[in-house]
Amino acid sequence: MTENIVPYIALAGVRKAYRIGGEMIPIFSGLDLAIPDGDFVAVMGPSGSGKSTLLNMLAGIDSLDAGTLRIGNSCLDQMGEAARAAWRAHNMGIVFQFYNLLPMLTAAENIELPLLLKPLSRKERYIRVEKVLDLVGLAGRERQYPALMSGGQQQRVGIARAIVSDPGLLLCDEPTGDLDRKSADEILDMLRFLNRELGKTIVMVTHDPQAALYACRTLHLDKGDFVEEKRAA
Ligand SMILES: Nc1ncnc2c1ncn2[C@@H]1O[C@H](COP(=O)(O)OP(=O)(O)OP(=O)(O)O)[C@@H](O)[C@H]1O
Ligand SMILES: [Mg+2]
Repeated sequence: MTENIVPYIALAGVRKAYRIGGEMIPIFSGLDLAIPDGDFVAVMGPSGSGKSTLLNMLAGIDSLDAGTLRIGNSCLDQMGEAARAAWRAHNMGIVFQFYNLLPMLTAAENIELPLLLKPLSRKERYIRVEKVLDLVGLAGRERQYPALMSGGQQQRVGIARAIVSDPGLLLCDEPTGDLDRKSADEILDMLRFLNRELGKTIVMVTHDPQAALYACRTLHLDKGDFVEEKRAA
């Protein structure tokens, strides 16, 4: 029986070009993509193929030149920059290759940052930070500064910050690109847990075929289009 799954993310006819030295260089000329709710997708592709551009469009950081982008019930292509930023703060978490933690803040203060945009009391913020610290296996480390943590621990803080607002969608750009195999696998196990147990929809860009195996499916981006990888059952 085939289920009729309504895509959580729907990109249709998307065009995007960058102006480089007076010339418009097309990155996407009619890109379509549908990601159902609860999916975990790995995006691979050569350097410069547009993986980060895709994530930035999904995040509402980059606008589309043409086409539509719907996530849930929201049409991001119809929103201005401020509305997209507000939407992003409520609906998605972003995990970066180099963690993007603020060095002068402790682990707990870094994780708390997205909550400062919300009407929450100090106590409520504290409870949420403790909960996600526990979830990523860093209970008791709240007062530690990023510089004193390993790469894997810093990325756990990065993931905790991405999920502290309880978004439905996680966008990860090379989340294990700076980690050794063991730490990478721990982070990937955590992403798999967030997908399977907490129902987060995840789009993860990676160069690492082993990392891609943690996802439910892999899309290869090349020459402005996607090719889905066939997996042995
Ligand atoms: N802000 C920008 N201005 C001009 N050109 C850009 C901009 N951002 C990206 N590009 C160009 O768009 C193309 C796609 O870039 P993008 O960063 O999305 O690639 P990528 O697949 O993420 O590459 P990598 O694997 O190296 O991270 C590249 O040719 C890049 O030079
Ligand atoms: Mg990139």
